[in-house]
Amino acid sequence: MKTVPEFHEFADQQTLCQKLSQRICAALQEAIAVRGKASLVVSGGSTPVPLFAALSVISMEWDSVFITLADERWVEVSDKDSNEASVREHLLRNQAGETHFHGLKNSHASAVDGEKECEEQLALLPVPFDIVILGIGSDGHTASLFPGAARLSDALDMGSGTLCMAMTPVTAPHDRMTLTLPALLNSRQIFLQLSGKEKRDVYERALGGDSVEEMPIRAVLDQDKVPVDVYWTSA
Ligand code: 6PG
Repeated sequence: MKTVPEFHEFADQQTLCQKLSQRICAALQEAIAVRGKASLVVSGGSTPVPLFAALSVISMEWDSVFITLADERWVEVSDKDSNEASVREHLLRNQAGETHFHGLKNSHASAVDGEKECEEQLALLPVPFDIVILGIGSDGHTASLFPGAARLSDALDMGSGTLCMAMTPVTAPHDRMTLTLPALLNSRQIFLQLSGKEKRDVYERALGGDSVEEMPIRAVLDQDKVPVDVYWTSA
């Protein structure tokens, strides 16, 4: 049966982040109670920053949580565009300082060269991932599954057996490393965090059509493997 995304609307950013962070931590804590450890996949970009801050102050067994990114720009961690830098600055602190973080960027010169090592890092996380948090770009991308990218269909291939793939977007800067669609969907729960009217419009446009090549987020919204909850605020 197809998953129908459940839509949650909030009055403001603070309320959204409070509710979503509490829900995430409850699920992680439950996973730890059942399986001894938990995994959390977070996105980069600007939207999750206040959520990271809200998560970081919740007291739970963070030392049993394994965190990675849905995608990474192939830049140094010192670069302002590094998603790892954002996670380190806003999430891996306060109560959440003792988590196991496995970033996607490694020392290889290119993302393509870094694929193998990245795959090895990802294999250290418990799967299915307990929680995956995604965003949407105005072009309909999610993680670094970009419309028009040469390797998009490979990254969407549910039979690839590959966890991560280098990607060169045509609509955004930097080469990337992205989790593939089968890796993202090998999860127990996906949250789509959106903020503002523009993102709401992109989301509605995605629901209104079928072409995954045109808007890769559709591959997450229209599938039968994982529940998807959308958290949105206009603020
Ligand atoms: C990235 C992301 C990406 C992001 C969207 C939305 O590294 O760029 O993981 O998929 O979620 O581009 O980005 P914003 O939150 O900055 O709008």
